[in-house]
Amino acid sequence: MIRNEIAKLLREITGKEARIEHPADAGHGDYSTNIAMEAKLDAKEIARKIEDNPMFEKVEVAGPGFINFFLTKEFLLDTITQILRQKEKYGGAEQGKTLVIDYSAPNIAKPFGIGHLRSTIIGQALYNIYEFLGWQCIGDNHLGDWGTQFGELIYQLKKDKLKDKAGKEKNKILEDLTIEELEKLYVKFHEEAEKTPKMGEEARSWFKKLEKGDKEAKEIWQACVDLSLKEFDRIYKLLAIKIDCALGESFYQGMLKKVIDEAIKKKIATKSQGALIIKYPQEKLPPAMILKSDGATTYLTRDLATIKYRLKKWKPDLILYEVGAEQYLHFKQLFWAVELLRWAKREKFFHVAHGLIRFKEGKLSTRKGRTIHLEEVLKEAIKRARKIIEQSETGRGLSKEEKEKVGEAVGIGAVKYNDLSQHYSGDIIFDWDKILNLKGNSGPYLQYTFARCQSVLRKAEYKVKDEKIKSIDLNKEEEDILRIIYEFPEVIEEAAKNFSPNLICNFIFGLAQRYNLFYTLHPIIKAETPELKVFRLALTAAIAQVLKNALSLLGISAPEKM
Ligand code: ARG
Repeated sequence: MIRNEIAKLLREITGKEARIEHPADAGHGDYSTNIAMEAKLDAKEIARKIEDNPMFEKVEVAGPGFINFFLTKEFLLDTITQILRQKEKYGGAEQGKTLVIDYSAPNIAKPFGIGHLRSTIIGQALYNIYEFLGWQCIGDNHLGDWGTQFGELIYQLKKDKLKDKAGKEKNKILEDLTIEELEKLYVKFHEEAEKTPKMGEEARSWFKKLEKGDKEAKEIWQACVDLSLKEFDRIYKLLAIKIDCALGESFYQGMLKKVIDEAIKKKIATKSQGALIIKYPQEKLPPAMILKSDGATTYLTRDLATIKYRLKKWKPDLILYEVGAEQYLHFKQLFWAVELLRWAKREKFFHVAHGLIRFKEGKLSTRKGRTIHLEEVLKEAIKRARKIIEQSETGRGLSKEEKEKVGEAVGIGAVKYNDLSQHYSGDIIFDWDKILNLKGNSGPYLQYTFARCQSVLRKAEYKVKDEKIKSIDLNKEEEDILRIIYEFPEVIEEAAKNFSPNLICNFIFGLAQRYNLFYTLHPIIKAETPELKVFRLALTAAIAQVLKNALSLLGISAPEKM
């Protein structure tokens, strides 16, 4: 990666880590650094030592001491050769570290809501990016399958549905349950419990029974789990999500006592009104509960046990949590607790705290008291995408089957891209017109650009050859492409470092725009000379390759025709 090479050169001369940027103004070169000013060194002196390097056309000193680097045309052209050589590996690396990433994590007995969509999409993209950079990745779906809410559910189920049913009759009822019913029972419990506080107590005792392994409680709980997993699997299939394991909160049952004992022994946990809490000396953090006064464990206790397990099992360099920003405090308390317990440093963990999805007024806006079901949204996206393809010029060449398939790829891709193209921390707006806009910064626009490249290459019957590209005169549009395409590996590294797939989206959007401008202004197959034709086809193939690599990191498929 060229930026690293420049950094190395500068390190050798100055002994310091230089900040190296891409100047906004092309007149200031391809890279620029202010190291001379920062380190109070002579910029001219540094430039002189570097300018002979064959990578650079020239190295210039500008302003109060900026050093600007201009890459040679040969270097820029060589990038195309590199891309065509490395193909689907272009942009990747081999870093040999281990990442555990906790993502998706929907809750059992509740529909897969739109709220878990972001975690699922961003989590999978981060997983892909790290894997591409050579990390060993373990994706763990920390299902919400344990907690006092199951006591509430069991209580209400028994009251409304199971009554005194037993044996086969009972099994049948459990088998036929739907998620919608469970959701309703859950809502009903809370409505009624407001008036009848005694219900809360009974629910808590059911959860305690569950924690103690009571047969009936376990049976009902298992039925809810099975039913939910079936529903989640449907969604993961639609979204093409592959998570390595789904241990879930319940998996850590047997490990909780040890964690609690350790916290007591290390004097991290103290008694407070019958409960056990962790107080935080270093930070202005409110105390966190690890054991309730009725003896029930908490979400935090289970997360502590999860960390202990993950550290031992996978020895990760980094553990990421792709979870909504509303759990900010929980993760802060969790990471601090881990440090207090001396299991690991806080820096080993990071909460990728995503914002909310808001719906623009319209058909799928939230009505009061109704959660939006993700499956409905995804189906709607596919339906709309199919309609667009049906009406588009390019869609005409597709068979009915192809149209169906492409429609699914475009609909799902659009939803994913809308999420991934914005920084995770902000709220995002769900606006159908924007998401599916073929001309804007959207998934379909990028898929369309890829399909356009493929169509050119098909028409030309182009086969990627390992050709060294001859030096030719570049027009402005070609040069504009070459001056950014080599940044791809850097962008991926930045995206990983900042947990920001949106950087990859920005990059390919810019690249696609430049290519489309080039495409409109210049003939490719009918280029002025045979050398130009070869070059422009190679350029097209390189663009297609980079787009494909990027889309695959984002979890978006790239149809050949669209
Ligand atoms: N199931 C939780 C929820 O929906 C998210 C779990 C996130 N992961 C974790 N290790 N706490 O709120």
